[in-house]
Amino acid sequence: MAEPVYVFDAYGTLFNVHAAIGKHREACGPQADLLSDLWRTKQLEYTWTLTLAGQYQDFWTLTGRALDYALARYPSVDKAIKPKLLEAYFALDAFPDAAPTLQALKERGSRTGILSNGSPNMLTAAVNGAGLNRLLDQVLSVDPIRIYKPRPEVYALATKAFGIAAGDVVFVSSNRWDVMGAAAFGFRGVWINRAAMPDEYPDHAPRHVIENLGALLTVAA
Ligand code: 2OP
Repeated sequence: MAEPVYVFDAYGTLFNVHAAIGKHREACGPQADLLSDLWRTKQLEYTWTLTLAGQYQDFWTLTGRALDYALARYPSVDKAIKPKLLEAYFALDAFPDAAPTLQALKERGSRTGILSNGSPNMLTAAVNGAGLNRLLDQVLSVDPIRIYKPRPEVYALATKAFGIAAGDVVFVSSNRWDVMGAAAFGFRGVWINRAAMPDEYPDHAPRHVIENLGALLTVAA
C-alpha cells in the first residue's frame, strides 16, 4: 500500500467557522452565537439542496445568502454588520493546531491537501492568511465540477489530483456527514470531534475519532 496522503476538509476542520462572529461578538449582541450557528447551518443546507436539485451556486454566494437568512431570523443583530462579517469569513482564521499539525506531517514526508466546498478565492485567502500555503501540496475546490459534498465526484477530485487509490487517502474532517461521504468513497476517515458530539452514520464509521488536529499525529493512519 502506498504512503497515505492526508486530505483535510477546510471549513470547521482547519478554519474556525465561528471566528467571523468571534471578531464582532460585541457588535452582534446576545444572539451572536445563535446567528453564527444558523449561518453555518443554512450555508450547508443550501449546498445539499442545490446539489440534490442539480443546481449550483458557488460557496461564497451561498455564504452570503445564508448570512442574509440568519440576519433576518435574528433581527436584534444590526444588519449593517454584514460586510464586516463577510470580510472576516473570506479569510477565516485557522484553528491554532492547524499549522503545527500540517508542519509535522510535512516533516514526516507526508503529502497533504485540502478538499473543500469553498470557492477558490475564499480558500486562497484563508490558506494564505493562516500561512498554510507552504504546508499543502494541493488546495482542491468543488468549484470546477459545480457539485458539493458528499457527492462521490467531489472525493474523486483528491484521488485524481494526487494520483492515488481511495484507500490511500486519510480524510480528516470535523463534519461527521463529510466523513460519511469520504468513507463511502473508500477513504480512511478521521473525525475531529471537538465538541464531543454523539456519533451518527453507523454504516460509514471513521477509522479514528479524535478531539483535535494535533491528535492526528498520535493515531496510526
Ligand atoms: C468544506 O468543504 C464542508 O465546509 C466544509 O470545507
